[in-house]
Amino acid sequence: MLRTTLLEASEAGSRILKHYFNGTFEVSHKSNINDLVTQADKESEAAIVEVIRASFPDHHILSEEVGALPGNASYKWIIDPIDGTVNFANGIPLCCVSIALEKDGQMIMGAVYNPFLHEFFFAERGKGATLNDRPIHVSAQKEVARSCVVTGFPYTYLDSPNGPLQVFERFIRRGVPMRRLGSAAIDLCWVAAGRFDAFYEHKLQAWDSAAGFLIVEEAGGRVTDFTGGPYSPYQPGIIATNGIIHEEMLRWVNG
Ligand code: IPD
Ligand code: CA
Ligand code: CA
Ligand code: CA
Repeated sequence: MLRTTLLEASEAGSRILKHYFNGTFEVSHKSNINDLVTQADKESEAAIVEVIRASFPDHHILSEEVGALPGNASYKWIIDPIDGTVNFANGIPLCCVSIALEKDGQMIMGAVYNPFLHEFFFAERGKGATLNDRPIHVSAQKEVARSCVVTGFPYTYLDSPNGPLQVFERFIRRGVPMRRLGSAAIDLCWVAAGRFDAFYEHKLQAWDSAAGFLIVEEAGGRVTDFTGGPYSPYQPGIIATNGIIHEEMLRWVNG
């Protein structure tokens, strides 16, 4: 039942993305002029929430545009109705619906669906991760210097001694091939699928990373905060790797 609802909710959200993609829709901004929210974000969110509420009216919901919708069960759905809104608004088909399910503080299920590449990533705790129903696994890369690394940048400049610019510079000075897709959920799934060896980002929200976190872990990878401590969706820094290069990656990111 939980799984069916998760699949139906992802499907409902993605229908909205497909409907508006490359068409006309309202766009407004949030924290600054480049932090966008579109009509499609809001309608995707409404469609997802409707599916979840129809089956589980007492579950908590935490979703990017509406925030927290209280419930009284031990379950919480963590929703990003479009991850990669800037891509979406520009007609770049690297965006997705990301939905995770947390139970008693533990992530138990996650789905990330990019309807434009027809890629549905899914994981259930203890049962592995899949891409379009086929098992996926992280890469076997052993060295950060030979890795393909993906990252993302916050909408507002993060001025700290070991901020996004400084860390990025460290990697490109050493010639590491760096990528920036514009969707943290897809970044994480592509680590899970072995396309990237590592991902880091300084400042994410729960809805950006919750589903992708479980998908990476269930694909055999490792996800922590910047200190190497356990991942929590409610703290900003995240490092996800194939596990083999995790300790080395922590040193690169922390200087
Ligand atoms: C953003 C994307 C992006 C990341 C930003 C996020 P949004 O989410 O995941 O890759 O760099 O930090 O805010 O706003 O497109 O849902
Ligand atoms: Ca997001
Ligand atoms: Ca979003
Ligand atoms: Ca956003």
